[in-house]
Amino acid sequence: MTDHKTLSDMAIDVLTTADGRAKTALSHRYAAQWRDARAAGTPPEIGLANPPLRPARPVRPELLSPRDVPRRRPGSPEGRIALLHAVAHIELNAVDLHWDIIARFADVKMPIGYYDDWVKAADEESKHFNLMCDCLESLGSHYGALPAHAGMWRAAEDTAQDHMGRLAVVPMVLEARGLDVTPGMIEIFRKAGDKNAVAALETIYGEEVAHVAYGSKWFHFLCGRHDLDPKEVFHTLVRRYFHSTLKPPFNEEKRAEAGLPPDFYWPLTQDDPDSAT
Ligand SMILES: [Fe+2]
Ligand SMILES: [Fe+2]
Repeated sequence: MTDHKTLSDMAIDVLTTADGRAKTALSHRYAAQWRDARAAGTPPEIGLANPPLRPARPVRPELLSPRDVPRRRPGSPEGRIALLHAVAHIELNAVDLHWDIIARFADVKMPIGYYDDWVKAADEESKHFNLMCDCLESLGSHYGALPAHAGMWRAAEDTAQDHMGRLAVVPMVLEARGLDVTPGMIEIFRKAGDKNAVAALETIYGEEVAHVAYGSKWFHFLCGRHDLDPKEVFHTLVRRYFHSTLKPPFNEEKRAEAGLPPDFYWPLTQDDPDSAT
């Protein structure tokens, strides 16, 4: 059975599904449909859509401002559950972020490979969310058992009108940050002997490099289209939309692999010298 939804319609369906497991199941299904249709040479139309400003979310977890989310010692069993829960929350947001970039900016004419990349990224984020849920469940917990950060969708709202701003802040800042911190997390679970979590986090770590690379690739593509200097525009957009400086240490090797050279991110570790008042 094939329906004739546009890719944007599919994105809206995922964004408006609240339950995490249901959202990711739909995301996997649509990604497979897209892949099969591409292989057959009959991809769906991209279409046009009006995505919700915020995606549908399950009733649980309760969303709290970051300063109200309780901190737990990362070495303790509760601390490890909290860490997996936080990653599950990030992955669920990432599923929505990748479908949202497809739908939100569907009016911008892009090569079809751009859609291949974000559909693949959304498919992988869906797997990542389920891996984290499986780990939580094997430890007697589940996604929704703890509170989670409320601010996770802010970058999407801030860049809802700015395609290049979205690429700069989401894959090239937020997902790149994942490359910096994931090896340390893997170490925590290795020390605790939790092989499931180590394997899951290694899968995530391996696949996230490509998501950052997609961001860098299409950001550079748009700079070329508009005859802009990529590094300068990147600095301007990150300072405009990302409300903090970037925090070292950076995973310079994986960032390089993803097409992010040091002169893109190091200057953003400091406030803009030109904006001092
Ligand atoms: Fe992910
Ligand atoms: Fe990702």
